[in-house]
Amino acid sequence: MEIEKLTDSFGARIHGLDLSIPLNREEHAELHKAWLDYQVLVIPKQKLTQEEQIKFARTWGEFPKRERYDKRAEKGTADKSIMLVSNIRENGKPIGSLPDGEMMFHTDGAYDEHPYNYTMLYALELPKTGGNTLFANMYAAYETLSDEMKLKLSDCTAHHGYYSGTVQRGQPVGHLNGEFSHPVFIEHNETGRTALFISRLLTLCINELLKEESEEILKFLFDHSEKPEFIYEHRWSLGDLVMWDNRCLNHARTDFSTSERRLLRRNVIQGKRPNRGHVRVA
Ligand code: SIN
Repeated sequence: MEIEKLTDSFGARIHGLDLSIPLNREEHAELHKAWLDYQVLVIPKQKLTQEEQIKFARTWGEFPKRERYDKRAEKGTADKSIMLVSNIRENGKPIGSLPDGEMMFHTDGAYDEHPYNYTMLYALELPKTGGNTLFANMYAAYETLSDEMKLKLSDCTAHHGYYSGTVQRGQPVGHLNGEFSHPVFIEHNETGRTALFISRLLTLCINELLKEESEEILKFLFDHSEKPEFIYEHRWSLGDLVMWDNRCLNHARTDFSTSERRLLRRNVIQGKRPNRGHVRVA
């Protein structure tokens, strides 16, 4: 297994793995360490059936219950643990979720009491251009805030909500998936590091601030966390499996043509309710 860094601060491409074959204990531990060290891993040139992907994904923890599976477009065509991210339509209906266009930064499941630890996305069909997935390093976003801002928000919580299928802030579609409040700064429960836990798509307000100040500070935090120096933009190739850690990364998607097919297979792994992160100032 060979690790190639993708940016100075996070992201790695992992060479020399065939995920259709179960990893041995040492390989799994090495990949886990790389995941914690680099937050997003790109594993290229994979040939994975749905069953092989599920088997690999399941080695990282439990799948969420997916109580709304019956309402999902993939019901009957994909396993309950799978979400198809796709704009392909059959009889005018999308075969998957999050079909079209640009999607703002978010982290998977932040609107739930137990956000997802990990997401894995495997590329099956891609447009010629666009539909790139962007990752924002939320450790770095926290670490580069001023001491004043860290202290101001150290005891605050943010309220998150999501209507299924929504890709732009303030333009809800579908039904309410959930709403929940978490600390603005969370502790990563494996590394102990502190990360900023807000996102443009999901975060509605900071509970302890008046509406106007909450809006002003959230706007600042969204813009801050989306600065180019905190971003890795992934341009997909067929067969890429990209796996990321939702406790310390936000992700987003660039626009792409509706006339080209895009199909990715997604697994998520259940997490725990995050604790408040430790705020240390000089
Ligand atoms: C997602 O946010 O889970 C989808 C990302 C993508 O389509 O690139």
